[in-house]
Amino acid sequence: MGIAISSWQLARAVSQSGQLGVVSGTAIDAVFARRLQNGDESGDLRRALAAFPNQTIAKRVLDLYFQPEGRDPDEPYKSTPKITINPSTHALELIVVANFAEVWLAKEGHDGLIGINYLEKIQMGTPSAAYGAMLAGVDFVLMGAGIPAEIPALLNDLAEHRPASLKVAVEGATNPYKTTFFPKTFSGLQLPNLKRPKFLAIISAHVLAAYLAKDEITKPDGFIIEGFNAGGHNAPPRGAMILDDDGQPIFGPKDEPDIEKVAKIGLPFWLAGGYSTPQLLESAKALGAIGIQVGTLFSLAKETGLAPDLRQEVLSQLKEKTLAVRTDPFASPTGFPFKVVTINNTISESATYALRPRLCDLGYLRVPFERVPGALGYRCSAEPTHVYIRKGGEEKDALGRKCLCNGLMANIDLGNLRGDGYQELPLVTLGSDLTGVTELLKRFPNGWSALDVIDFLTQHSNNEAGSKVESWVNQ
Ligand SMILES: Cc1cc2nc3c(=O)[nH]c(=O)nc-3n(C[C@H](O)[C@H](O)[C@H](O)COP(=O)(O)O)c2cc1C
Repeated sequence: MGIAISSWQLARAVSQSGQLGVVSGTAIDAVFARRLQNGDESGDLRRALAAFPNQTIAKRVLDLYFQPEGRDPDEPYKSTPKITINPSTHALELIVVANFAEVWLAKEGHDGLIGINYLEKIQMGTPSAAYGAMLAGVDFVLMGAGIPAEIPALLNDLAEHRPASLKVAVEGATNPYKTTFFPKTFSGLQLPNLKRPKFLAIISAHVLAAYLAKDEITKPDGFIIEGFNAGGHNAPPRGAMILDDDGQPIFGPKDEPDIEKVAKIGLPFWLAGGYSTPQLLESAKALGAIGIQVGTLFSLAKETGLAPDLRQEVLSQLKEKTLAVRTDPFASPTGFPFKVVTINNTISESATYALRPRLCDLGYLRVPFERVPGALGYRCSAEPTHVYIRKGGEEKDALGRKCLCNGLMANIDLGNLRGDGYQELPLVTLGSDLTGVTELLKRFPNGWSALDVIDFLTQHSNNEAGSKVESWVNQ
C-alpha cells in the first residue's frame, strides 16, 4: 500500500507470521531521502545501507541526504530528482538503494516472504526499482494500475544483470519510446546471484487475466483480482463513467470479475477488495484462490506507516460511525478513481485543497509527451493548470485533480514545508468496505496489530494460505 503505508515494519510483521508481507515501492526513493534527512534516529536505514553491495553508491546517497541532527522543521526537504525516460545516475542510485533498503529491512533476521508493490503507470522508474528490490532478495513483485505485460521479461533480464528495457507510453508519440536500465553499473564489482522473484499482476478483469496468460512472454506467475471497493486506486467502471448524486462513479455487475474464468486459467490467484472477514477468506478459498490480499485492515494496524494522529482520527471516526470513504473519480492525476477518507484539515476537503498553490515537485505521476520527434516533455494534470495547458494538456483534464504525491507523503508524516511557507497536507485512502475494521475495533478498542489482523482472518483456516504460498515459492 503506497506510499509507505505498507512500511517495512508492517510487511515484516506480516511476513514473520507466515504470510506474504508486501512493502510499497511507490516513491520509496523520496521517502528514503526524507527519512535520512530526519536523522534516521533508529539507525535502521544506515544498517541497510551498510549491507548494500556497492558501498561507493551507498556512501554517495548517505552523504547527499543524511542529516545526523535531523532536519530543521522550518526547512523544506531537499528535492529529489524527478524520474524521466533517461533518469540521471543520481536518480537511479537513489531508487536502487531505497528499494534495496526497504526490502532488506522487511526481510532482516527471518525467512518469511516479502513482496514489493509498484504502479504500472510509473514505468520509467520500474526497472531500477525492481533491481534494487532484487538485490535485497525480494520474493514477489506485484504490479497494478495498468497492463503489466512486459514485467515478466523485465524480471528475467534483471535476474541475469542484463540491460532491461520497458516501453514507455508517450502521449502524441510518432515513434515508440523505451527506457533502458543497465544493472551492472549499480551492483558492485562482484555480481551477486539474484533470485528471479515471482510476478503477480494486480487486475480487476478476468479478460485481462486471460490476455496476459495466453503468451509465455507476458504470463505472470499469478494474479491478484482486485474489486472496486479496495483502498487506493480502482479500475474505472467499464463503459461510460456515470456518477451518482454524491459524485461517485457507479460500479455494476459488469465490473465484477468472473472468478471462475480466472480459476480456469490455472495460475495461482488471490482476491482483494473488501475481503475482510474469516468467512470471506474461506469463500475466496472455496472459489480456488490461494488466499486474499488485505489492505484496509493492515493500514490501521499499529505497524502501519500512517501518521499516528491520522490513524487515531480514523479509528475515532470508525468508533463514532462517522467514517466516510468516497470514491473520487477526479482526484488522481492517473485518471483512475481513487478512494479518499473525509478528514478535516486534509486535502480531502475541496476548500482546504483550494488553498494549496498547485506545484509539482515530486512528479511520480507525470506523463511523458512528445514535444518534437525524439524530444519529450513531462506533465501532470495536478501541476499548475496554466503550465499543464502550456505543455499541451487540456483544462478539463486538470479539473479536480489533486497532488497525490505530496498528499500521500504527508500521510506518513513526511509532508513538505515549501519555500513559500505552505505545509503539504495529507490525503488518506482506505477501502470502502468497513466490515472487518468495525469488527476488529470491537475486539481491540485500543487498536490492533498486524498479528491481530492475521489471527482474526485465519481463525478458521489454520494459517493454510501462508504455508501454501511458501511451498509454491520454494519449488
Ligand atoms: C492505504 C492503502 C493504500 C493502497 N495503496 C496501493 C498501492 O499503492 N498500489 C496498489 O496496487 N494497491 C494499493 N492499495 C490496495 C491494496 O493493495 C489492496 O489490494 C486492497 O487494499 C485490498 O482491499 P481492502 O482495502 O478492502 O483490504 C492500497 C490500499 C490501501 C488501504
